[in-house]
Order: sequence, then C-alpha cells, then structure tokens
Amino acid sequence: MTKALVTGCAGFIGSHLTQRLLRDGATVIGIDGFLDNYDVAAKLRNLAEIGTHPAFTFHSAMIQANRWEEWLEGVDVVYHLAALPGVRSSWGTAFTDYVSHNILGTQSLLEACLKLPKPPVIVASSSSSVYGTMDGDKTDEQTPLRPISPYGVTKASMEQICQVYVKAFGLPVTMLRYFTVYGPRQRTDMAFHRFFRHLMKGETVSIYGDGQQSRDFTFVTDAVEANILAAQYADPGDIFNIGGDREFKLIDVLNLMGSLLNVSPKITYMADSAGDSKRTSADIRFATGKLGYKPRVALEEGLRLQLADLQAQDKG
Ligand code: UGA
Repeated sequence: MTKALVTGCAGFIGSHLTQRLLRDGATVIGIDGFLDNYDVAAKLRNLAEIGTHPAFTFHSAMIQANRWEEWLEGVDVVYHLAALPGVRSSWGTAFTDYVSHNILGTQSLLEACLKLPKPPVIVASSSSSVYGTMDGDKTDEQTPLRPISPYGVTKASMEQICQVYVKAFGLPVTMLRYFTVYGPRQRTDMAFHRFFRHLMKGETVSIYGDGQQSRDFTFVTDAVEANILAAQYADPGDIFNIGGDREFKLIDVLNLMGSLLNVSPKITYMADSAGDSKRTSADIRFATGKLGYKPRVALEEGLRLQLADLQAQDKG
C-alpha cells in the first residue's frame, strides 16, 4: 500500500489531492500550518471533509518546524503543495514570508528526503508567476522564466533549488506548473471565488485592469490527476505545464458566471494590479506525451461545480 506525504493538505489543491489518494487506497500523512494568507475557516472546512478517514494522519504544523524525520517515516511518495501563494500579496515586507515558505521550506524538505531511499517528490510550481507575461503562442516549458512579481521570484527559485538537488543527488523531483486553478474550495482570495460570492449577494465585482486579461484556467481535479500521473511516470527534474488547454478572457468568464446565476454583473474597473500577467496560455504537449495528462473538465462545467460547492456551503 502506498504511503504518501501531502504538505499543504488543508489547502485548495492539497485537500482535493489528499481525498483522491485516500480514495485510491493510499495511507496519507498530511501537514498544514493554516497560514492566515486567506480565510482559515475555509481551510478548516477542507480538512473536515477528509480529517476523519482512518488512513489519514494529520499534523498541524508549518513545514519550517522541520519535523521531517517524523513526517517522512515510511513514506513512498511526497506531494509538496505547502506554500505561501498569491501574486498580489507578495509585495513589501510580506516577501520575507514568501521566501521562508516557498524557498527555505522546500529546501528543508529536499534535504530531509536525501535520508530516505529517494521517494518521488512532486512539487507545486506555478505558471503565470514563473513565466511572467506570455506573448505569442502557447508557452512551453523551455520558455525563459521572467517572473514579474515577488511571488513569482520565489516559485522560480523554488524550481531552481529543486533542480540543484536533482543534479547533485539524483533526487527524483518533478515540478508541476499549474495555470490558475479553480473549482470547489478555490482559495477565497482568487478571482472566481470572489466573483461568485459578489454575484450571489448582488454586489459589485472589482476587476483589476480592463478585464481583457486572459488565463488558461485549469480545473482542480485535472491538477490532481497530474500529480498522480507525475508520481508514476516522470523522470527526475522534469517540469510540466499543467493547463486547461484553452485561454479565456476574465470579462468573458465573469459574464458566463452571471449567466449561470441569471444576473447581470455590476462591475468596477480598478487600476492594473502590480505583478498581474496579461495572459497565460499553456502548451501542455510535454505533459500529454510523457504523463498522459489531458484536461477533462471544460470551463462551464467547472464553473457549475464551483458554484454548486458554494451553494452547498451556504445551505450548511
Ligand atoms: C493564480 C494563483 O493565485 C497563483 O497562486 C498562481 O501561482 C497563479 O494563478 C499561476 O497560475 O501562476 P492569478 O492568475 O492571479 O494567480 O489568479 P486569480 O487570483 O484567480 O486572478 C485571475 C485574474 O483575475 C487576475 O488577472 C486578477 O488580477 C484578476 N482579479 C482577481 C480581479 O480582477 N479581481 C479580483 O477580485 C481578483
């Protein structure tokens, strides 16, 4: 039976991955430090949905607590999703925390893994953040990294420290560059969550810039599937774009959300947000060819599922 460690298990993607692993029959050790970068109640709710499973052991701790020896005991595969995410909040003094969680925390995990018989380590990176603004066609993994936010700098550095451990010690680390993931339990600071909540209350939605920015939105179960596939087939040091395979303008998505709720969105346009990419578009051919990754959930279906989750929460 597989024994997996999931860091960030109460987070958005981490909680879905934990649930999937448990459903597949794995034993899961989960760590989460309940960072207050967004609604902690949402993370507690995520954990409540998985916390009682008999094959799940939870440790409430920051990864910087460095209890790796205990957490990694007998583990066959590591999914590292714990991080301080979010582009907009990474400026100013917050950067120190981004460095601590995203770079130093990751390095301490890699160091600890050296003491084990080289378990596969699947690490969450991110797309718009490491590539910066993308021009032209879809972006492939060979595209030079040009982060435009402090957060992006920490994710790019995190990838590099992983590559260093791959090259020096053959640690089998694989990095997944997610493209703006959405779906049930989406982080409450992210656009779709905020938009749905405002629309549901008849409130005005705030858009940064003109709403013409576009994203290759990726449904959360597709991101989870990529993790499962990567644990089986990736080679050390591989980096994969994990996208939804279609680019949508933010304003079009907002209008689609409005139509799902039968409301006409009221919008306030604000100044551009510093560090915000104008567009992201994933070339996923490497992930498709090597992992068999294929996004399965189309945008409208994914939005319906996210909305249904919010409505179910409201019913309690
Ligand atoms: C998301 C995640 O938040 C990052 O953690 C991740 O690294 C990144 O995707 C990535 O793929 O690299 P972002 O694309 O900014 O970052 O995701 P959202 O927060 O959902 O924002 C999407 C767009 O909506 C952005 O242009 C943002 O400026 C805009 N937005 C967001 C608004 O116009 N209004 C809001 O209230 C929130």
